[in-house]
Amino acid sequence: MAFPQGFYWGGSTAAIQCEGAWDEDGRGPSELDFCTVGDANHPRLITFIDAEGKPGTAPMFKGAPAGAKLAVLPGYYYPNHVGIDAYHRYEEDIELFAEMGFTMLRLSLNITRLFSNGDEREANPRGIAFYHRVFDKMHACGIEPLVTLAHFNDPVGLDEATGGWGDRRTIDFFVRYARAAMEAYRGKVRWWLTFNEINNELSLLNLDPHPTDEMYRKAYQRLHHQFLASARVVALAHDIDPENRVGCMVNGTPIYPLTCDPADVLAARYAWERDVFYCADVQAKGAYAPFARRLWSEHDVSLAVQPGDAETLAAGTVDFFTFSYYMSSAVTTHADEEQVNGNMTKSAKNPYLAYTEWGWAQDPSGLRYFMEVAYDRYRIPLMIVENGLGAADEVESDGSVHDSYRVAYMHDHLREVEQALADGVDCIGYLSWAPIDLISMGSGQMRKRYGMIYVDRHDDGTGTFARIKKDSFDWYRRVIATNGADLG
Ligand code: BG6
Repeated sequence: MAFPQGFYWGGSTAAIQCEGAWDEDGRGPSELDFCTVGDANHPRLITFIDAEGKPGTAPMFKGAPAGAKLAVLPGYYYPNHVGIDAYHRYEEDIELFAEMGFTMLRLSLNITRLFSNGDEREANPRGIAFYHRVFDKMHACGIEPLVTLAHFNDPVGLDEATGGWGDRRTIDFFVRYARAAMEAYRGKVRWWLTFNEINNELSLLNLDPHPTDEMYRKAYQRLHHQFLASARVVALAHDIDPENRVGCMVNGTPIYPLTCDPADVLAARYAWERDVFYCADVQAKGAYAPFARRLWSEHDVSLAVQPGDAETLAAGTVDFFTFSYYMSSAVTTHADEEQVNGNMTKSAKNPYLAYTEWGWAQDPSGLRYFMEVAYDRYRIPLMIVENGLGAADEVESDGSVHDSYRVAYMHDHLREVEQALADGVDCIGYLSWAPIDLISMGSGQMRKRYGMIYVDRHDDGTGTFARIKKDSFDWYRRVIATNGADLG
């Protein structure tokens, strides 16, 4: 058997992209609540009232200007406000996941359901109660929860009051939130992740045409605080329940040299260091890598570090290593090469690969490559917690959705997982992103669909929210039923 006994099969979601109910039961806002819908060629906008009191917008990845206050403005559509209405429909969704045979579902807690502003002393009991209902339903359906504590939904209240992760006090607020969650769900949740795609903090700077040293300084400092928070949460989780297992989560985009020019090969190596290993080394090995000095000196960074930080990092290494995989990227020192923007980063266009409408390279073997590099470096169990194809599905007149391209994508990637397992990589699970259509993080669209369950909801805000099984639903059910022996 290629896939070991007990291998976890399932899918992955994020609260901010599916729950909706953005102002119900005391939930506070996070940044995506102020982001509009975009598309493959137009960025999502973030909307605000500027320092002079005028309404304004900026591309989401650039963020609002200094002194602006995020605001919902008339005339814009904010897709995360309703998501796919999972806050009210989670039971039906979990039953559908169970029908596919899921043994694990990754979901995130919406931080602002528990701590609406981020700095309250006590968690909101209505938020705590909601996730109790969700976990109870999952256990009744035989599905183990894997919970991400932070998945793109920092409280806006904290950002406004302190500047968020740039401020060291945020560590304590985050640990308080994690403690509240881990104590409340002790015995119901055993598997935890701290920060989703923590390394985006650096790779996002690749999207800026002229990132300044100041931008790098801020990113490195924010990360230092997140590493400390993550390490403290790992230690805390083990104290609260020795059964708890805590993982890191990185954006697992492998980086190729576009040519065999030695300068490109070195550039690719350095990009791995900056965009992947910088974060993963701290979380998995408990200390900054030697190359961190070079990265800091490139941007004149002098981290604000306090006595005891090194010990905290060393005492909070993760139990397992998780990552998302969608695509590979390529770097070159040759300025005239065509560029594409993919998952939170910019890449040279790889002539050997096909690209989706959204510019994401399709590269199944990149998954095996990433797994082998990561396992070789960290030697702790790996879990693939996001992998899938965002595509524009059509519902036929008879109500069916024929998504053979998604089946082909997942099939080809699972073949590579099989190969990595055969090569000795200890991989303990595969969770698809996302088992049900939800709001795209990058574009804000519903049109960019990942699910094996179609959701009748559209980019103009219309639709009934009805759930429809796509062809991939049955295919994945067979894959899980045979523990990966029948990939079709
Ligand atoms: C990952 C994120 O980057 O990619 C998810 O963890 C996100 O939140 C997923 O949805 C796919 O990206 P997108 O932009 O297509 O939604």
